[in-house]
Parts: sequence; C-alpha cells; structure tokens
Amino acid sequence: MKKVVYGNPVPCFAIEKEVEEAKELPGFTVEDTVEGYLKFTMAVSEKTAIYGLGETVGNINKKGSKFISFNTDDPHHRENTLSLYGSHNLLIFDELNITPKLGFFFDTPGKVIFDLDSEKKGKVKITVLSKDLRVYFWQQDTAYLAVKEFLSYIGRSFIPPLWAFGLCQSRWGYKDEKDIKFIIDEYEKAGLPLDSVCMDIDYMDKYTDFTINKKRFPNLKRFNTECMNRGVHLVPIIDAGVKILPKNPFFKEGVERDLFCKNIEGKPFMAAVWPGPTHFPDFFKKETRDWFGKEYKILTDAGITGFWNDMNEPAVFYSEMDKSKGIMETIIGFLNPHTKEKKAMEESRAYKSYKHFYHEIDGKSYVNQDVHNEYGSRMTQAGYDGLTELTDKRFLLYSRASMLGGHRYGGIWTGDNESRWDHLFMNVRQMPCLNMCGFLYSGADTGGFGGNVTEELLLRWTAVSLFTPLFRNHTAIATRNQEYFRFENRKAFKNLLSLRYRLIPYLYSEFMIAVLSSDMFIKPLSFAFPYDEKARNIEDQLIVGGSLMIAPVLTEGAKSRNVYIPKDMELIRYKNGSFTREKVAKGMICIEVPVDEVVFFLLPEKSFIYARKEYSNTKNLDLSDVELVGDSDYKQYMDDGLTRKYSLNECVRIVKRCQN
Ligand code: GLC
Repeated sequence: MKKVVYGNPVPCFAIEKEVEEAKELPGFTVEDTVEGYLKFTMAVSEKTAIYGLGETVGNINKKGSKFISFNTDDPHHRENTLSLYGSHNLLIFDELNITPKLGFFFDTPGKVIFDLDSEKKGKVKITVLSKDLRVYFWQQDTAYLAVKEFLSYIGRSFIPPLWAFGLCQSRWGYKDEKDIKFIIDEYEKAGLPLDSVCMDIDYMDKYTDFTINKKRFPNLKRFNTECMNRGVHLVPIIDAGVKILPKNPFFKEGVERDLFCKNIEGKPFMAAVWPGPTHFPDFFKKETRDWFGKEYKILTDAGITGFWNDMNEPAVFYSEMDKSKGIMETIIGFLNPHTKEKKAMEESRAYKSYKHFYHEIDGKSYVNQDVHNEYGSRMTQAGYDGLTELTDKRFLLYSRASMLGGHRYGGIWTGDNESRWDHLFMNVRQMPCLNMCGFLYSGADTGGFGGNVTEELLLRWTAVSLFTPLFRNHTAIATRNQEYFRFENRKAFKNLLSLRYRLIPYLYSEFMIAVLSSDMFIKPLSFAFPYDEKARNIEDQLIVGGSLMIAPVLTEGAKSRNVYIPKDMELIRYKNGSFTREKVAKGMICIEVPVDEVVFFLLPEKSFIYARKEYSNTKNLDLSDVELVGDSDYKQYMDDGLTRKYSLNECVRIVKRCQN
C-alpha cells in the first residue's frame, strides 16, 4: 500500500501502519476544480465490479450507483438514498479475469461524492469537496485479498464480550424497571433465550446523558444485579448532545473547561436533539474525550458493561440559526415516514447547521462540514477509552454514526431502518460491505425500526440476523410490539433462536479468528469463489465465517427460493432442535424453506461446530461442549469471552472429526 497526499489533511484516523508516500495516483486522472475541490476520474469496463463503501444502500457490487459520504440521520432509506450514518471510503475495482485488482481509500473526514458509473457509462468520478486529503492505493490478485490487505492496515476491529453474541431485545419506549422486568419475565415464560435488553433514552433524566431517572430506576445497581442473575445484561444508550443544564456538574465542567463545539463567536454551539437544546462535545479534543469517557462510570458503577452511542452524526433537529422551527415537526415526520416528503439533503436543517459549528484539532479550528464524518467515531473512541480505563474486562459498545477508524473502538448498527422486505434485503447486502471496512461487530434492527412488522417478515429477518454478530430486535416508539414472545408462531421463533445459541461456538470462533487475522467474517459469494463468473452476480447469498453459506428468503409469501451452488456442498436444515444434511450439486437449485426451518449450506471440505445443548443465555454456555458437522477437523477459537486475553496461538484448539 502507498499513499498520495494532497494539500494539508487533518491527522490520519483510519490507517494505523506507516505507509510510503508516492507522487502520483495510478489509475485516476486528477483535476483541481474552480470550486476548490479535487476530482478523480477513471474509465471502467463493463466487466468491472466495484466493492467497498461500507454502510450504503444498494448492491454489494456498487457499480452503477451514486453515493455521498456524509454521515446523515435520515430514517427514509430508499434505493436512491445517497448517505446513511456511516462513511467508509474504500473502493476495490475488480475487472473480470484481469489482474491486478485495484484498491483505493479516500481518506478524508469531509464530504465525498462517489459517482460509480452512474451518470456517464464507463466512467467513475469521485469528487472530494476539499483540497486536503490522502489517497491510499494498492493492488492484489483478488478483490478479497485486496480487502484483506486493507484490513491489515486499519487496525484491529472492536472485540465485544461473548454475551454480546446472544439476543438483545430493545424498544424505544421501555421506560422503567417494570417494563424491562416484564420483557425478561415473558422471555423466560415463553422459553426463549435472551442475553440483553437495551435501555433507550427514557431511562435518563430528561434525556440528559449520564443521569438516571430515579423514579423509573430507583436503584439501578440493584436492578442490574437482578437482571444479571437471570443472565440478562442491560445496555443503556448515550446520545452525543449534552442537555444545556447549567447546574449539572458534568455540563458545567464541559463549559468551564471549554470542551464543547463552538459557534462563529467562539461560544458553545447550541442545537436541539432529544433533550431539547444541547451543546455538542468536541470529541476531536482529547480533553473532551477523557471528560466524556470517564462519565460512563455512573453506569459501570451500577455493574453495566454494554452501551450504544447514538445521534452522533451528529443529528440536529434545529439549531441556534433556526430557532423558529420546533422539535415536534421533526418527531412527527420521523414517526410517519410516509407523510413527510423527503427533503433534499442540502436543504435539511441539520445540513445547514454543519456550516456553523467548529471543532478544534491540534489547536486549529475546523468547520464541522469539513471533518463531519469523523465526529461519531471520535465519540465512540471517547467511550472506548473511558471504558477501557473504567474496567479491565471487555465491554460492548456500538455506535450509529461511523467513519473508518471507528471500527477499532466499537461496532455499529445500521440505524433507523423500517419493517419492509426491501430493508431486509438491504441488511443482507450491507453486511459484507461493512465487513470490508472493518466493522465486523455489526447488525441491523431486526424486524425493522420504523413501521409495523408482520410475523412473516420478522421470521425471515430473524433467519438472517441469527448469523450476524450483533443480533438485536429493536423498534420505534408507536410501532407494534415486536418482541418474539408477542407472536403466534412461537414454535418457529423458538427454532430460530435456538439455532442462534447453538451456533454461538462457531460464530464466536469465526468472528474472533477473522478479527485477530485481519479478515472478514461475512463475505460476498464472489470473494469465496473469485473465479466463478456467476458468483459475482449473486447479491442475496452470503458466506458466514469460513464454512457456511446462507441463502435467506427475502420475498413476502415465498415458500421456496433459487440458490446458486458454486461447488458441490451440503444443505443443512435445522428444525425442532435437530439438523439434517443432504448433498447438493453445483448449479442452480430450488429449495423449500418453510418459516419454521433454517436452511444453510456447508462449503466443500469444511466443517462447523454447534453446541450440544440448547441455552437460554450465554451465562453458562460451554464453548467446548460441541458437536462437529463436516468432513474435516475444525479449528476452534475459544477464550473466556470476558477478559482481554485474546490470542490466536493460545486460544485455538482442534475439534476432531469423528472417524466412524
Ligand atoms: C434514534 C435511534 C433509535 C432510538 C431513537 C430514540 O432514532 O437510531 O435507535 O431508538 O433514536 O433514542
């Protein structure tokens, strides 16, 4: 890997290794535009696939699409949505039967427009809205190897505790102990497994970060102990904006020590989010990160070890330049996505405000829009550093906004999706793209956040999420109840959740090996079968870990689906707690997939392991009590799932194939 440096970019956040500098960027024509931008163009052939870009809508092969890297809080994810909550500027050009494959990383926290052969046939145009940037470039024999090289430069992905692989139940609307206890009771009564429950903004006092509403949670430590004794972890939310409350000591310290973002007059910038008017911590400053990070103590003191960071694009409902507009309009539009016309991003209130607040990096002032995409990940870094000081154990941390580099400090979830079939398919395609960018601990709101899920959609979605590291069922306030115990087909849900828990020894092992060897955990088919032309076009099948392929049902009412089998392999069915196996030959096949079965595939010459017993949470899960399926021995990664003693040398054992 080499880099070309243009202008005077901000300090590098994403790449951790030293990289040699080159004078020119191969492959692209570079132009300085009159507007002060840098424009990169490249001709691409019809047979080129383009991979990368992490959290975006659309296909795994990004060719033919347009995206804008600019972290955005927009809950209306559609086919033509340009920006989501993350900005991951990796591109891999993979021309069929031509080597080398070309890798590029456009390293800037500012806005970048990627026109990937969408406006003009055969042309890729990348516009960086700045003259300051680094572009990294490298070459490899396959797209997969190009991604692996990239991953080896960006530093190790975040590692959560083992319990974070269990099911998390969430809902915006659980207000107090009673609500959460009810959820745990009902899961227990229904005989469904559960490892964590999220606490959304209502646990706080007036949505103020690092406060606990004492009426709702009179003794959080006691309550947390009660939940933990039942094997359930509490996972509270922390938002980016800090409520303006002059008497609050945390807030006061932030003002006195000058730790907030500034407006043009040098005063703390004011904008409203859930708590009403807030100031935004300037997470680019180490002092701010230290101040914010240590505040998680109020939660760790209660025994809590899981957290999600939200609203950190940062989301802005209205700001000091726009005091006339109220918060209600935003909330109403948010809850009823179909009643509000989607405004062009440039016109949005949040977007306007990004031109009016400032950050400090190494003593220099930067307007938000120039460093915008790094903000959320710097918040995650604050949480990660603080929690690393506060506990010597692992903790769970994930964020909504992200930029490359943020993957070292936390996982991500893919934001406010909706209960729509196309959003299930979107989730499937996002997973390998996020893995290419180092966000291995990731997942979507299973069942969809906005809107009312149907039982069938939740069943099909769960059959996907049970293979993703973050497995969280979350939904918005005012939507229908979405917990698994609310649905009629209990047996089918039980089957899906039981498989998740039985696969944890495999999923955890494959995840850890991937993280510790700079690899992907979820890959597109084309990465596992790089010389198979058909595999390049498959967008709805994924490789999970090194041994399994999934081909989920993504269509309403479908009882079967076509699956492309790139090599002879085995089809595995899981029903009523038992596995059946059948051989399937290379080619296109049609398989029946009833909603109460999970179907997946074992790749040739591979094996997987599963827990012998069924579990109701990970508390007593014995990673070594496993059965092996397949024709080869299995290399299992196994550790205590709790401490930070991870090692590829010491924690790997061979599970022998039974020779009878
Ligand atoms: C944001 C989050 C969502 C959360 C809600 C309330 O929309 O993305 O997950 O439930 O805020 O905190």
